[in-house]
Amino acid sequence: MTQLQQAIDSTLVPRRELASGAQIPVVGLGTFGSDHVSGTQIAAAVLDAARIGYRQFDCAAVYGNEALIGDALQSIWKTLASREEFWITSKLWNDKHAVKDVIPSCKQSLRDLKLEYLDLYLVHWPFPNFHPPGCDVDSRSPDARPYIHAEFMETWGEMERLVELGLVRHIGTSNMTIPKLELLLRDAHVRPVCNEMELHPHFQQPEFIAYLFEKQIQPIGFCPLGSPGRPERDRTPEDTSPLEDPVIRAIADQHQVHPAEICLKWAVQRGEVVIPFSVNPRNYAANLRAVVENPLTQEEMRRITAADRRCRLIKGDVFLWKKNQSWHDLWDENGAITPP
Ligand SMILES: NC(=O)c1ccc[n+]([C@@H]2O[C@H](COP(=O)([O-])OP(=O)(O)OC[C@H]3O[C@@H](n4cnc5c(N)ncnc54)[C@H](OP(=O)(O)O)[C@@H]3O)[C@@H](O)[C@H]2O)c1
Repeated sequence: MTQLQQAIDSTLVPRRELASGAQIPVVGLGTFGSDHVSGTQIAAAVLDAARIGYRQFDCAAVYGNEALIGDALQSIWKTLASREEFWITSKLWNDKHAVKDVIPSCKQSLRDLKLEYLDLYLVHWPFPNFHPPGCDVDSRSPDARPYIHAEFMETWGEMERLVELGLVRHIGTSNMTIPKLELLLRDAHVRPVCNEMELHPHFQQPEFIAYLFEKQIQPIGFCPLGSPGRPERDRTPEDTSPLEDPVIRAIADQHQVHPAEICLKWAVQRGEVVIPFSVNPRNYAANLRAVVENPLTQEEMRRITAADRRCRLIKGDVFLWKKNQSWHDLWDENGAITPP
């Protein structure tokens, strides 16, 4: 099959309506190369993905490739489709939470991506803790801090100003927990419309998803395939892989597709927006097609729901702020924010 035959009419890709009334495509292309795929390859995938029907790209300053993606976006506007058809997300990195840094950081992403506005700007992590790209999981910053709500609200105040300035259409959060979102929703003037979070069949977070739907916050699932290409340093012996799950594999066999496509169908049918990463044209075409064609039956959905392993893969160890802590402390697992 040629590349052109794989294209899908972008208007057939479902969109989710957000609390603002805006519509976000249910699938976007992730752009984090996990330190082993070059920015040039990713920018080429962005351009080709737009050609075959993608209308959403999940970017971030820390991915180090926004300028290259910006060049690809320029080509898209010139040759394929207008800016207004697309949903572009970027994220504020952890060392830019200071009030003086938020607006300049967003403006830098806009300059790099060569955009006048972002559709969505996220606070990437709720911790203002810098770590160098590619560092080891045991690496700790001496300046690492816990979550301090008053400080987070100062950052959020600047995120709100970005909306007022017209530089971003929506703001949101990433890697949050229910207790932290409760405080944010209590104190925010501009509410988050989306929360980006790890979600796949082996880490379903059903309570968190239900909370987000109740609060009209759209969940965006990262690592929707269980991030099979993540670096060795981000793997532990306890990790499991949804792509190797016998239930997912059996359903994939029945549908005669790769297990990746089953993970994406399941996620979108439960109400998520998904942002799978790929630089392989066959794979990113299949991922787009997966959310348009041949949905899972209720019985298949039920079987996948029962396959949850509660297995978090992106644990965030590098953000810990004290000695002898465990990554579990980052995720407020007992229902309250972990004390400083
Ligand atoms: N907010 C956050 O803190 C955060 C954290 C992590 C990730 N993210 C975002 O989420 C995106 C996705 O996460 P991720 O890249 O870690 O994990 P992922 O999307 O679960 O997995 C990507 C991997 O799956 C492979 N793949 C993709 N489609 C496939 C298919 N149809 N069949 C077989 N293999 C397939 C890709 O390889 P090929 O390239 O060979 O296809 C790549 O190695 C990132 O790129 C980033 O934009 C956000």
